[in-house]
Amino acid sequence: MELGNDVSTFRRTYKTVFAVFRLIFQGIFNGIIKTFLFWKHVKPEGKAVFITGCDSGFGNATARKLDAKGFHVFAACLFPLGPGAAQLNQETSERLKIVGLDVTSEESVLKALEFVKNNLGHCIIWAIINNAGVYKGLSVEFSTLQEFRDCVEVNAFGPIRVTKAFLPLIRKSKGRVVNVTSMGGRVAAPNMTPLHSE
Ligand SMILES: NC(=O)c1ccc[n+]([C@@H]2O[C@H](COP(=O)([O-])OP(=O)(O)OC[C@H]3O[C@@H](n4cnc5c(N)ncnc54)[C@H](OP(=O)(O)O)[C@@H]3O)[C@@H](O)[C@H]2O)c1
Repeated sequence: MELGNDVSTFRRTYKTVFAVFRLIFQGIFNGIIKTFLFWKHVKPEGKAVFITGCDSGFGNATARKLDAKGFHVFAACLFPLGPGAAQLNQETSERLKIVGLDVTSEESVLKALEFVKNNLGHCIIWAIINNAGVYKGLSVEFSTLQEFRDCVEVNAFGPIRVTKAFLPLIRKSKGRVVNVTSMGGRVAAPNMTPLHSE
């Protein structure tokens, strides 16, 4: 009886110790695999990134982060003389350049592209980040048609307009297009109807 207890205690202890060691070794192994196979450190030298919607939020934060990492950032702001742009100018390096951009306007997109081309210097456009977005309206009853239009124009046609304009530069650099979007584009929730129309 006592021997039976000892054996089961030993088994439990053995299993626990084995599980702990397995976790530790798995962690180390995964870390090594990630480090050597999947982590590609992009060197920022000579690489420029164009980000839309940098007045506030994710766009503003991404512009700061990439600037701090050493990238050349073109921070596109809906209001290039507004507080968000002014703060970016103050708190980032001289590599970061503010450019005015309304993604709903073809003319504005082409102007921004021209600005980027004229200020690229020795850099390549490594990425464009389609981040600008709006969230307007409630349910169908309480939303105006204009709110639907705004969501579609900014969130859906905006990235297409910007991507089409910048694609030749991206193809040349073999860079990337990053689209920031919302679960709301896939999963519908009550009272967010204009957002889902994108
Ligand atoms: N926050 C979230 O929980 C969440 C969740 C899912 C997805 N997202 C997506 O993440 C992205 C950023 O959102 P956020 O939370 O950072 O919101 P945000 O602070 O409102 O940022 C959106 C930016 O887009 C700008 N913008 C609006 N209309 C524009 C236009 N016509 N042309 C150019 N820029 C325009 C805004 O400028 P102004 O500030 O001057 O209006 C703002 O700077 C959006 O695409 C959004 O759909 C956010």
